[in-house]
Amino acid sequence: MTREGAADAAARVQHLTGPRGTFDVLPESAEAWRRSGAWQALEAAGREILHLHGYREIRTPIFEHTELFQRGIGEATDVVQKEMYTFQDRGERWLTLRPEGTAPVVRAYLEHHLHAWPQPVKLYYLGPMFRYERPQAGRYRQLHQLGAELLGSADPAADAEMVLIPLQICRRAGLDRVRVRLNSLGCTACRPVFREALREALADLVDALCEACRERYRRNPLRVLDCKEPGCRRHFHRLPAPSDYWCDACREHLAATRAYLDELQAPYELDARLVRGLDYYTRTVFELVAEGLGAQDAVGGGGRYDGLVEQLGGPPTPAVGFALGMDRILMAADRLGSAPEIRPAPEVYVAHVGPEARREAVLLALRLRAGGVAAELDYLGRGLARQLKDAHRRGARYAAVLGEEELRAGTVRVRDMVTGQEELVPRDGVAAWFGGRLGARGGAGA
Ligand code: HAM
Repeated sequence: MTREGAADAAARVQHLTGPRGTFDVLPESAEAWRRSGAWQALEAAGREILHLHGYREIRTPIFEHTELFQRGIGEATDVVQKEMYTFQDRGERWLTLRPEGTAPVVRAYLEHHLHAWPQPVKLYYLGPMFRYERPQAGRYRQLHQLGAELLGSADPAADAEMVLIPLQICRRAGLDRVRVRLNSLGCTACRPVFREALREALADLVDALCEACRERYRRNPLRVLDCKEPGCRRHFHRLPAPSDYWCDACREHLAATRAYLDELQAPYELDARLVRGLDYYTRTVFELVAEGLGAQDAVGGGGRYDGLVEQLGGPPTPAVGFALGMDRILMAADRLGSAPEIRPAPEVYVAHVGPEARREAVLLALRLRAGGVAAELDYLGRGLARQLKDAHRRGARYAAVLGEEELRAGTVRVRDMVTGQEELVPRDGVAAWFGGRLGARGGAGA
């Protein structure tokens, strides 16, 4: 190969890695949080808990019209300003890979007239979101959320539910010590007063803040409070907090939400400076924080967004929701050694001796599977001893051995891999034999 050819090949190989800020989930991995079984377990627990609370799944596209996020999330937010994957398609439409799930759910709620359904409408979703952030541990460009939205109710019970559900899901992942930070951002009555007070207080401070904050101050002063720069944050104690301006209705809403959380001993504390990074929030906002994750310790967040549906062209509709960062939950659980995992194992390993038995073994495995029994077999021409070793390694409950003798007698030698006990079973009854012991699920038996 010429020198140029070698360089080309190296460049190509370099690009045969996943894009920056992404990762693969594999059946086996040294890191528990990157195993597909861990993802499946978390998804299953999430679905189960959400179904118990009356939520049903919605699946929206991975990309949407860019305008949806500009209008929904807010032009002045970091997400819209610098984190969106936006492109023009061949029809010259501006599209964006979804950075979050709330705006798409509201879009679908309006598009399909879900406001005409019995209210409230309770929906959940899970899947990848995309944000062009600086990757680091716990911060990815393709992140994965499990989220829920409750549309059509202003009841504080809904706010409480939205805090309690993600806590329950975290606990099922082994995160017993997740804490909630809670605040209220006020409503259309009291927030403008707070905003004005904040603007005035910032006027004296703005020159001491970072460049991004100076821009935020111009566009939406509330966004300044979301700045993570320590140089900016050390001034924040001099700024007013939303709580200084809550109206009576907002105060009562928060008190009623807290009363439910207190009854259930939810681990939360008020955080007067919590503002969240998206513009649509009104009243309740919260974040779930896990220990041991370093800077990226928020495993979830959410809040009420009573103005968003109307802002996107619908009727006035109060709503509240949350999203959990599944990547971070599993990372935190991995650090604690509590990452959940589903590990499918074959129920039966069909082993054989000799080429004639091989054919029967393949057919038996196929028939068992068709009958709802998880069956595995050798594909590498291994001898019996190594097949049985393989059966052990894969965690098979039984081995079904077909040798010359069994072939002649029309039987299968079934070995219980736990007790080592063996039994000869007639070959035409073997599927039923396993079905009886394993509680087969499928229909078509052998
Ligand atoms: P969010 O706080 O932007 O809220 O994201 C929710 C969670 O997603 C975060 O707490 C974090 O765990 C995870 N997350 C966000 N960005 C990244 C990243 N780059 N890498 C890894 N994990 C990340 C929302 O998205 C709102 N839609 C939540 C909501 C639903 N509010 C009302 N309804």
